[in-house]
Amino acid sequence: MRIDKLLAHTGYGTRKEVKKLVKQGAVEADGIKIKSFSAQVNPDKEVITVKGETVEYREFIYLMMNKPPGVISATEDDMHETVVNILELEDIVRQPFPVGRLDKDTEGLLILTNDGKFAHGITSPKKHVSKVYEAVLDQTVTEEDKKRFAEGIVLDDGYETKPARLEQIDSEKMLVHITISEGKFHQVKRMCHAVGKEVLFLKRIQIGGIVLDPKLETGEYRDLRDEEIEELQNS
Ligand code: URA
Repeated sequence: MRIDKLLAHTGYGTRKEVKKLVKQGAVEADGIKIKSFSAQVNPDKEVITVKGETVEYREFIYLMMNKPPGVISATEDDMHETVVNILELEDIVRQPFPVGRLDKDTEGLLILTNDGKFAHGITSPKKHVSKVYEAVLDQTVTEEDKKRFAEGIVLDDGYETKPARLEQIDSEKMLVHITISEGKFHQVKRMCHAVGKEVLFLKRIQIGGIVLDPKLETGEYRDLRDEEIEELQNS
């Protein structure tokens, strides 16, 4: 993998900062100075050091994406572009997969990782990790709708959801926040449909204590920070 990527992954700073470290001659592979930030290294075979300190290579990759609409939350698909297809090649080679699913037309916070145990900790129904969605509906919600969400809603297949939170954010724009702690198929859309409302726009903005980074445009992604990984592990 590229040395700048390895160092950014292992906490030596942003891509820009690690490029500077390479330029300064602070980075070595098996005792030989690395001259280019695009140099390829094999962290399993070479000892990489920064200012003499050995770099601890992490096996796993953890990404936060602002998923764009029109892309499938899967690793591969015969027909459509997937969230993995839109990653950079050097991330794709580490074989990340999306943690849970968002519908094709849903945007927002999606975590990708190659750490199965971590992913299971977030998606396991036993964990009840909360997810917050921003939605635009076709009508203004009522106090009765909020009450029904809080009590749990019976979906079209007879399943009764766990209690959820429906908050009015902007009544003119019909903008709401919906918090659920499970991940049934099309859950938010079906819950809204059950109270006579249709979802016109849907974006996930939070998972557990992790909020979608407002600096990420749709389609952009970044590495999760150590504290965000820990937060999700403790969710
Ligand atoms: N609920 C939905 O209806 N769709 C999503 O993509 C996520 C939650």
